[in-house]
Amino acid sequence: MNDPSRSALYDDADLYDRLHAGYRDDVDFYRRLALDQGGPVIELGAGSGRLTAVLARTGLEIVAVEPHPAMRARCEARLADLARDEPDRDVRVRVVAGDARTLELDVRAALVIAPFNTLMHLERLDDQDAALSSARAHLAPGGAFACDLFVPRFGAPGVVRSESMPSGPDGLGGDLLLWQEHDEVEQVITTQLRLDTIDDDGRLQRRAAVLRQRYWTRFELERALASAGFRSTRLFGDLGRGPFTAASTVMAAVARI
Ligand SMILES: C[S@@+](CC[C@H](N)C(=O)[O-])C[C@H]1O[C@@H](n2cnc3c(N)ncnc32)[C@H](O)[C@@H]1O
Repeated sequence: MNDPSRSALYDDADLYDRLHAGYRDDVDFYRRLALDQGGPVIELGAGSGRLTAVLARTGLEIVAVEPHPAMRARCEARLADLARDEPDRDVRVRVVAGDARTLELDVRAALVIAPFNTLMHLERLDDQDAALSSARAHLAPGGAFACDLFVPRFGAPGVVRSESMPSGPDGLGGDLLLWQEHDEVEQVITTQLRLDTIDDDGRLQRRAAVLRQRYWTRFELERALASAGFRSTRLFGDLGRGPFTAASTVMAAVARI
């Protein structure tokens, strides 16, 4: 078993994909934005390519930026599968090693996106400012930046949630245990994950990972976008572009220069 204190979720792309295989809530939001804006599209924190593959199918030019080697390798493999399985499709994706804070691409994009909580990996204010300024600097005139972040709902700390996971590509399901700690001073939520599967030989495969996320408040996000030079921001409380309310579990923004 991995040592949970040292294993970050993004070192295990297979575990990441198992946990998020069924997540599609953001697909229409980002696909529609991409089709409205046109390319090129820069995706910050492309991860294992869950959303990148969806965007690749639009035929737009995509630059998928991902700092973690394991996630990047999985993203490349997923795109190679797409190109092989759908040979008539014009897949124009470049996967690059990079960090949202220090991006220097030779691309001016119609759309820069930071989907599915990517900005929650920027814990310090200067990291957040650097990433948003860099996103803005990579936009062509008329360009837009979009992101979505979860709105934390604080349950009792340390209380374990247990879920049955559907089968992964190897046909194996599993049992997930998940619990969170909340550091109110740092605005950080740390999630501990344990996934147990039983392989074809009846042996227990036990995996563990930890995920740290710095949550944002609504005005923090709006203020940071304005400070980075975005002239207007539309804030949504769900990925269907509904209003932000006290019941919202997601905060999505589309900012324009
Ligand atoms: C929750 S995952 C989202 C992955 C993918 N976009 C998806 O929707 O499944 C967040 C991703 O952000 C990446 N990330 C973390 N810090 C980053 C940074 N400073 N710049 C760019 N990406 C970062 C992580 O490696 C991870 O792949």
